[in-house]
Amino acid sequence: MQNMEKNKVKLGVMGWPIEQSLSPDLHNHWMKASDIKGRYKKLACEPENLKGFIADLKEKKYLGWNVTIPHKTATLSLLDSVDERAKVLGAVNTVKNEDGKLCGYNTDGEGFIQHLNNSATNWRRDKPVLVLGAGGAARAVIMALKDAGVPKIYLCNRTKEKADTIKRDLDISNIDVANWDEKSGIVSEVGLVVNTTSLGMDGCPPLEISLNLADSDVVVYDIVYKPLDTALIKAAKDRGLKTVDGLGMLFHQAVAAFEIWFDRKPDINDGLLDELREQFL
Ligand code: ATR
Repeated sequence: MQNMEKNKVKLGVMGWPIEQSLSPDLHNHWMKASDIKGRYKKLACEPENLKGFIADLKEKKYLGWNVTIPHKTATLSLLDSVDERAKVLGAVNTVKNEDGKLCGYNTDGEGFIQHLNNSATNWRRDKPVLVLGAGGAARAVIMALKDAGVPKIYLCNRTKEKADTIKRDLDISNIDVANWDEKSGIVSEVGLVVNTTSLGMDGCPPLEISLNLADSDVVVYDIVYKPLDTALIKAAKDRGLKTVDGLGMLFHQAVAAFEIWFDRKPDINDGLLDELREQFL
């Protein structure tokens, strides 16, 4: 019995608070479907305990864990190595314990782009993109769009200086920082609009932007998933535009983390994402 316990894979998601996390639903489902014995747990870690908490997970031989608010940046300096992407973003969302060495990764950008490629196959990679917001999520989105080769990124944030800092930090020449009140006009030039702000989330005001100037092939991507049908998504649908919601980004960053831990992809075509979406509607 003891040996069987020993062979079980230990994974989890570390955050504070953590009760709201969907990650256990995803990973426990995929582990079961892949015949991997083990458990993925919610790991509640108060910010002041982070260092000791990580040491404890290592001691307990966790294979790895996801990192969420508020630990993504602080975790970076507590690991043995961090991959290039996580370094550039200054944030880790996945840790793998490789024979006692803790390695950090960031799969948020991959989650963003995979979901876009899967659900809006024909999005216009040849046109500029409008990114709204300049927090951690915006950084991951911008890096992924850069890798996808988009010709230009318009970056609009209420606090313009934060957008300037992103442009400087990420060292991307084709970012045009624009004023927050210019966003509705910029819509006429782009093929993709991405909301990375918290506007539209339960308890926050809606994002106010006009889509009147959008071409008919514009895709509108809102990374907010609580609720799924934000005012932005509704407005885009009313205009007949293709929309992409935030739940799939969460889903695909988890796919990428699973791949880091197990060197294989989970089966993503078994309807799990649709089931989750039902719960959120
Ligand atoms: P995350 O790291 O998850 O992206 P964050 O760093 O808290 O979250 O960033 C939140 C984003 O939402 C920021 O771009 C923020 O704009 P500011 O940089 O000006 O604060 C944006 N945001 C939040 N509330 C807003 C509001 N009422 N109007 C406009 N933007 C808002």
